[in-house]
Amino acid sequence: MAFLGIDIGTSGTKTLAINHKGKILASDTREYPCHSPKPLWSEQDPDDWWNAVVKSVKTVIKKAQLKPTAVKAIGLSGQMHGSVFLDKNDKVIRKAILWNDQRTVAECSEIENAVGGRENLIRLVANPALTGFTAPKILWLRNKEPKHFDKLRKVLLPKDEIRRRLTGEYATEVSDASGMLLLDVVNRNWSRELLTALKLDESLFGKVYESEDITGTLTPESAKLLGLTTDCIVVGGAGDCAAGAIGNGIVDSGILSTSIGTSGVMFVHSDEVKIDPLGRVHTFCHAVRDRWHLMGVNLSSGGSLQWFRNALCVELLAEAKKKGKDVYDLLTAEAANVPPGSEGLYFLPYLSGERTPHADPFARGCFIGLTLSHRRGHLVRSVLEGVTYSMRDSLEIFRGLDIPIKQIRASGGGSKSPFWRQIQADVFGQQVVTVNSEEGPAFGVALLAAVGAGEYKNIQEACKATIKIAKETKPNVKSQRVYNASMPIYQRLYCSLRGDFRAIGGE
Ligand code: XUL
Repeated sequence: MAFLGIDIGTSGTKTLAINHKGKILASDTREYPCHSPKPLWSEQDPDDWWNAVVKSVKTVIKKAQLKPTAVKAIGLSGQMHGSVFLDKNDKVIRKAILWNDQRTVAECSEIENAVGGRENLIRLVANPALTGFTAPKILWLRNKEPKHFDKLRKVLLPKDEIRRRLTGEYATEVSDASGMLLLDVVNRNWSRELLTALKLDESLFGKVYESEDITGTLTPESAKLLGLTTDCIVVGGAGDCAAGAIGNGIVDSGILSTSIGTSGVMFVHSDEVKIDPLGRVHTFCHAVRDRWHLMGVNLSSGGSLQWFRNALCVELLAEAKKKGKDVYDLLTAEAANVPPGSEGLYFLPYLSGERTPHADPFARGCFIGLTLSHRRGHLVRSVLEGVTYSMRDSLEIFRGLDIPIKQIRASGGGSKSPFWRQIQADVFGQQVVTVNSEEGPAFGVALLAAVGAGEYKNIQEACKATIKIAKETKPNVKSQRVYNASMPIYQRLYCSLRGDFRAIGGE
């Protein structure tokens, strides 16, 4: 018996299969491009996601030697907030606009004005209007591409478009729907009041499920294409942040996960709805039935190091390839020769603007404090430190909201590096642990699929049975002192530059 988890990420789609004990049987990742036709725009073609899903599912089934009837259930995860616009024939109207797209500044104001201000919006959907969220993208289509808007019949999130192609159903689930800015997060359904204020019809959206609920079964066409059967169920699944948190066992209060992928996510479970009145962190439904989570998102975390590698390390990349080494290992080795604090060099990781805590699409990335004595290792270390300071911004907000944080679990590509985990422990001033499963969101939704198929009573039980603590990293007192002194300077730098970022961005 097997369960599949499929994660429609920004750089690629990852599919994996687990058995009834949560053991990974096989996995496969297929990459696709991201398009940026204008500065700060970010788009993808849903057909690229679908082709990647088909290829990776077939590969996983082959690698794991699964019979078609063995695959009982599929869980879907994906990049959040993206908008797939469909016409009356379910044809994609234009490329999907993604979570890290910043074109909707005017529409965010339009939404707040439509409901009488930010405070009232937070009352309706628990969050302020942020440029990456889905609702402002729909308004942008109405304002800027009215011909496309006239054809619009459905708006689906990336993983829910894959669900439609698999099952024929228009459906979503609470964790991902929370990021559309249209969900009444407290009552876990669409906010009629907001939809009315924005003049959007509820029929534009799918039916809302809990994450472990069954949303449909494979159609005969998709079953045939994938080599599976029409008995295979598809559960709600989760947005990639909640799915990653499930894969990391964040299903109880007091546990926080840090995840460093392209974006950086600080994710904490909450038994009740807690909302930051200033709207600096998000409050979304969790993929755990009737539970919520708070989340801080940094738009360029691993993405900052990736940018550094691509823009400034072309020769080193070639050298690493020749020697069969990982270029990130070479870079972090250089950074490890530099003392904590990077001898006064700071990096602000706002390469795609920033979400938490500033919600500022105009923010820019910077190195500040360069001197003649700084070498590449300093630059790398300051990138790792700057990204980690940006995560501590969220941690400080959670602590300020009296959310207990008894344990921090590090995950995502960035946390595979022991060096970066040490920086995390030192900057957070708290021990950081990792868990045995390093497969992220795809693993989390494979577990949800197993719950949907009746293998476990609920997701808490599934996590308890399959997820264990693996490694522990304790903070180093000396480095912690350096970072405690640097953090307020890091925080002040954004405040000093805020106005100039706007001037640079042409506001
Ligand atoms: C979460 C967010 C990102 C994307 C990336 O709010 O915008 O983490 O989900 O995949």
